Amino acid sequence: MNPLPAILFSDNWNVYQKIIANNYMLHKEFSHYTREALSTASIPIKSVLDLGCGDAQLIAKDLASIGIDTYTGYDLSEAALAQAEHFLQYLPAQKKLSLGRMENLIQDATNTWDLIYSSYAIHHLSDLGKQEIMLEVYNHLNSNGLFLMVDVMRKKDQSRDAYMDDYIGGIRQNWPGLEIREQDMIANHIHEYDFPAIDLDLIDWATSIGFSVQKAPVQDDRHQMLIMQKG
Ligand SMILES: C[S@@+](CC[C@H](N)C(=O)[O-])C[C@H]1O[C@@H](n2cnc3c(N)ncnc32)[C@H](O)[C@@H]1O
Repeated sequence: MNPLPAILFSDNWNVYQKIIANNYMLHKEFSHYTREALSTASIPIKSVLDLGCGDAQLIAKDLASIGIDTYTGYDLSEAALAQAEHFLQYLPAQKKLSLGRMENLIQDATNTWDLIYSSYAIHHLSDLGKQEIMLEVYNHLNSNGLFLMVDVMRKKDQSRDAYMDDYIGGIRQNWPGLEIREQDMIANHIHEYDFPAIDLDLIDWATSIGFSVQKAPVQDDRHQMLIMQKG
């Protein structure tokens, strides 16, 4: 994998805002299921770690109603963290934003959290990297803590090439709110930086680590959310 992955954010923030505004990646549905998971969690969610937080715009809104004590965000883009500082300003909690690779930062962290959240970031890691970060997440959660993972995923037996054709075809057909040059830019980004795992593999890895896993019931086979609880 390219050693400088996925800074969709810093280069293309406006395009990502259009994707969110048009709900092309189902951010609305995932926000709904995030809020539902927060309100039904078996422990009070007071401490939150966000892996690949980007501008933290949506999670800041999702967290606003539950009253957390601390929010920590990791991202490798300085521009993203500057935006996150802005969008988190009204979230009443102690905030800490750390610049760097989430996989290294979590490994070095001595804290544990009630909720670890990650939206559209983990697919940038290799499959081994995904398994390693899931284990780190498990080890950095409090008992009965939650791991919410929103991401792009491949279908069973779907190769990365077949996924690329399918996903980029979907952009061309179903994302008319983006100009052709913006669609091209996203397609190039995906080709270079995206390594989505097969959904069933993610579920198997999580289960073998010790998580109980549920899938949010969205009718979409590319954008998914796994709701995982540490036993
Ligand atoms: C598509 S954006 C998602 C941002 C936000 N979580 C959301 O859902 O709106 C992906 C983010 O992950 C960050 N990212 C990618 N790989 C990363 C890594 N290894 N460590 C930390 N951040 C990473 C990028 O810089 C970018 O801000």
